Order: sequence, then C-alpha cells, then structure tokens
Amino acid sequence: MNPVETTGLSKKFGDVTAVKDVSLTVHRGEVYGFLGPNGAGKTTTLRMLLGLIRPTSGGVRLLGKPPGHGYLDRVGALIEGPAFYPYLSGRKNLLVLADHAGVARTRVDAVLGTVGLTGRAGDRYGTYSLGMKQRLGLAAALLKEPELLILDEPTNGLDPAGMADMRVTIRELAANGCTVLLSSHLLAEVEQICDRVGVITRGELVAETTVAELRAGGTLRVVAHPFDQARTVLTTLLGEAHVAVDDRVFDLEVEPGRAAEINSELVGAGLAVSEVRWREPDLERAFLELTGGGNGVD
Ligand SMILES: Nc1ncnc2c1ncn2[C@@H]1O[C@H](COP(=O)(O)OP(=O)(O)O)[C@@H](O)[C@H]1O
Ligand SMILES: [Mg+2]
Repeated sequence: MNPVETTGLSKKFGDVTAVKDVSLTVHRGEVYGFLGPNGAGKTTTLRMLLGLIRPTSGGVRLLGKPPGHGYLDRVGALIEGPAFYPYLSGRKNLLVLADHAGVARTRVDAVLGTVGLTGRAGDRYGTYSLGMKQRLGLAAALLKEPELLILDEPTNGLDPAGMADMRVTIRELAANGCTVLLSSHLLAEVEQICDRVGVITRGELVAETTVAELRAGGTLRVVAHPFDQARTVLTTLLGEAHVAVDDRVFDLEVEPGRAAEINSELVGAGLAVSEVRWREPDLERAFLELTGGGNGVD
C-alpha cells in the first residue's frame, strides 16, 4: 500500500481549474517533492489530500483510506502558517497542543529536540524568527509520531542557513522511517532533499520521476590534441553515438567514473590531454523540457 495515492484529482474554484486530473503516488519511506511554480496548484492538492477541501472530482487515498476515515492521527501536516499563541513560549504552545491531542507531554521535549529548538523553547512565540516559527510548526506536526508528513513549502521564507537546517531535519525524519511529501517551487531544493519528484504546472502533473533520473545526462568534457586522432580513439572506445563534438571539444555520454580510464586511453595513444572534466546536467533545462518551457520555477 502506498502512503499517498490520488487518481484523477481535480479542483475547480468557480471557473478556475486549480488542479486538473492529478494522479500521483508517494512510496513508503521516500521524500517526495511536489514541484511547481507559484499558482501551479500545490497547496490546493495538499489541502485535498488532508480533507481540508473537497475535490471537484477524483479520488484520494492516504495510508490506504479515503479522507475522513480516521488516519489523521498517523499523518502530520504543515500547511499555511500554523496558528500559535504569540504570548506563550514555543514549549507552552506545544504543551497546549499535546494536551488537546491526548499526546504524552514527554513528546514535547522530544520534538523540540528533533527540530533543533530546545535552546529557544522557553521564549515567546511572538519573538521567533520566521525559521523558528516554521520549525515549531514542524514540531507540532511531529507530536503524534506520524508515519506520513505533508509539508507545504517547508523552507519558504527561510534564510539559507534555516533552509539547510530544515533540509537536514527532513532527511533525518525520512531516515527514521517517516514518509514525507513536501511541496516546493525551488528545483534545487527538491533536488537536494527528495528521492522522487512530481512536477505540476497550471494544475497538471506533467512528470513524475526520480531525482536521479532528472540528474542523469551529465557529460564528460574532454579536450585532446591532435583532434582527429583523439576522435578516433574515443569513438573506438565508446562508440560513435556517445561522442558528441562541439567546436573541437568532446562531450562524452559516459558515467563520471570512467574519466580516469578515458584519460589514460588518450594518453596511452600518445595524445596531449588538456581537459577532462565532468559537467553536471543542466537541471533547469531538463525541468523546462518537462514543463514544456515557460512558466518555470523561479
Ligand atoms: N480558495 C480559492 N478560491 C479561488 N481560487 C483559488 C483558491 N485557492 C487557490 N486558488 C487558485 O488556484 C490556483 C492554484 O493555487 P495554489 O494551489 O495555491 O497554488 P500553489 O500552492 O502551487 O502556489 C491559483 O490560480 C489560485 O489563485
Ligand atoms: Mg502554495
């Protein structure tokens, strides 16, 4: 059973189709990135998943059940800024929530530790930075020890250090067995935290793939002299199809691990090798190709 499955999920607000025919699957134990520009339909989709709004059509199954069937204790969510009391401390806010949810009070210090807020837990919520507020929101979502976490733009508005902290925390949660579905409008962020990615633009899921696949397609750039001899050596070794040439520079479609071998083949054939360098694939371009260009992430 997959923790999240939607089939043909759609939502209209009047004449506006916010989400159109979205069928996505989140596998157990993975961090799934729901990636798309602002206004693409991410929040609307996540709200439907949680039963906060009703789909116009299509189905949702969370932990194998349709919305409203008692799975919410096993799902933690952070959608839109959580409401906390500004005059209470972070810890006191969580204690209120824990009591309300019937969660043991010992969980409060545990989740404060998980999100790295122990040192500031006694300070008033109203004095927290955006990053601390976001971390407290995550702590609240973790109170019930959820097996599935749904996070809407968890790093939005954070400074680079806060973003990095949040990423580490999310990866740690996943390493401890929690399945995570998070949305983001940042390609680089999804690339760093997620195992798989679903790309949404204008309400439609245009791709669902692994981050590894998205990242595939780097090339080994080689410059060697004399050029014609180098070309002969490389095409013999790799086959014509894997040797692209641009202005006397070779772009080889190989695994990065073959750099040393290729270098020594060229040198062994008496050639002068002036460059062997791995070039990362252009993720931004791959993303634009997936989304059909335009309306990309910012
Ligand atoms: N409650 C609502 N009423 C009307 N339109 C809405 C409502 N919520 C979202 N929308 C519209 O649906 C589209 C998708 O919005 P949203 O799901 O918030 O996108 P994202 O989270 O990807 O930025 C946008 O065009 C937005 O204006
Ligand atoms: Mg949103």
